[in-house]
Amino acid sequence: MNIAILGYGVVGKGVEKIARKNKINVSYILMRDIDKLTLPNMTKDLKEILNDSNVNCVVECIGGDRPAYDYVKEAILKGKHVVSSNKKMLVNHFKELYRLANKNNVHLLFSSACGGGIPWLKNLAYIKENESILGFKGIMNGTSNYILDKIFSDGLAFNDALKKAQELGYAEQDPSDDIDGIDTANKTILSMIIAYGINFELKEIFIKGIANISDDEYRFALNNNYRLVLLGKGLKKGNKYTLYVIPTFVNKNSQFFNIKNNYNCFSLYTDNLKNLSFVGQGAGSLPTAQNVINDILDLNNPYKYEFNGTEKPDYSLIKSNFYIHTKNKISTNLIKRKIGDNIYVTKKINIIDLKKLINKNDFVGEIENA
Ligand SMILES: NC(=O)c1ccc[n+]([C@@H]2O[C@H](COP(=O)([O-])OP(=O)(O)OC[C@H]3O[C@@H](n4cnc5c(N)ncnc54)[C@H](OP(=O)(O)O)[C@@H]3O)[C@@H](O)[C@H]2O)c1
Repeated sequence: MNIAILGYGVVGKGVEKIARKNKINVSYILMRDIDKLTLPNMTKDLKEILNDSNVNCVVECIGGDRPAYDYVKEAILKGKHVVSSNKKMLVNHFKELYRLANKNNVHLLFSSACGGGIPWLKNLAYIKENESILGFKGIMNGTSNYILDKIFSDGLAFNDALKKAQELGYAEQDPSDDIDGIDTANKTILSMIIAYGINFELKEIFIKGIANISDDEYRFALNNNYRLVLLGKGLKKGNKYTLYVIPTFVNKNSQFFNIKNNYNCFSLYTDNLKNLSFVGQGAGSLPTAQNVINDILDLNNPYKYEFNGTEKPDYSLIKSNFYIHTKNKISTNLIKRKIGDNIYVTKKINIIDLKKLINKNDFVGEIENA
C-alpha cells in the first residue's frame, strides 16, 4: 500500500510513524511551507502526488474546510481512496464527497474523525449490519470532559480548568468549537451517517455547550449526586430521527459518570446487545493515527455505510427533564420545580417546548433519571 499524507501536524506525524511498522509505504508528505521540506518524500506539489499512479490512498490530516475539501475532492477524482480525520470538512461536504467516491469506485473512510483513537464508527458500522441501532450517545469531546472533570474532581473554576487544558495542549487558544458543543455536534452527525445513513445540517441541530456553566450547576450536581458530562445524542424511532448536544447530569449508575480527564466514551443501544460502550483516547497523535492506519489497512475490506439523504431532526421524539439557568423568570406549567434564583427543573418535555423557554446564553442541561 502506497499512501500520501496531506498535513504533517499532530495526526500526520503519528500516521507516518505508525505506517512504517505496518508495511505501509509513505510515498509523499504534502507540505505547504518550502522551508519545512526536510525529508526526501516531502513535496509542496499536490499534482505530483495525484499524478503518481502508484499512490493508492490519500490521507488527509490538514484540518479545516479549505483547502482540505479541494484536495480530497481532487484525490477522489483521480481514483485514490481517501482516509480523513477531518470532521469539519466531512460534515460540510459529505453528500458531494460520498457520491463522488461511489462514482469513482474508491472508499472514503473517516473512523478517526469521530473518537480519535476509539474505533467507534467502524464498530457502529459493523454492528448495524446485523442489528438496528436504536440510539447512541457519547462524551465525544476530550477538552470539555477534561474541563468538567477538573471542576468536579478537583474543584477548579471553569476558567482555571480551561487554562490548564490549554497549557496541556488539550484545548485550542480559541476553544469555542469545543466548549460550545460544535465539535460534539459534528461528531454526532458523522455517527448518524454511519448508524442510519442520514446526514443533518449543523445549523438544524439543537446544541448546548458548557461555556455558560456556573457554581450553581456545580452545586446542583453535588447536592443530587450527579456528575455533569457533555453528550452528543442520536436516535431513531420509526422513520424519524433526532440528534442533539447537551450537558447532561448523570448519576453513578451511568457509564459516563467515571470518565476522567480528556477521555471519550461512546455508547450504543440495540434490542439484543442492550447497552454497549467504547472508552478510550478521543484524541492525541498516536491514538488518532492508529485509527487512521486501521482504516488504511481495512481498505481491501472496509466497513460499510450508505448515504440515503439529508433530513431535519424531529425534536418531538424525546421527552426529558431539563435544568434551566436563565436570566429570565419562567412562569409556565412546564416547570416542575424552581430550585434557585432563575433556576428551574422542567417536567418531562420535548426539545420543541424546551426551546421556547430558553435564551441563547442560558445554561441548559438534561437530567437523566430525574
Ligand atoms: N489532534 C488530534 O488529536 C486529532 C484527533 C482527531 C481528529 N483530528 C483532526 O485531524 C485534523 C488534523 O489535526 P492536527 O491536530 O493534526 O492539526 P495540526 O497539528 O494543526 O496539523 C495540521 C497540519 O496541516 C498542515 N497544513 C495546513 N494547511 C496545509 C496545506 N495547504 N498543505 C499542506 N499542509 C497543510 C499544517 O502545516 P503547518 O505546519 O505549515 O501549519 C499542519 O502541519 C483536524 O481535522 C482535526 O480535527 C485531530
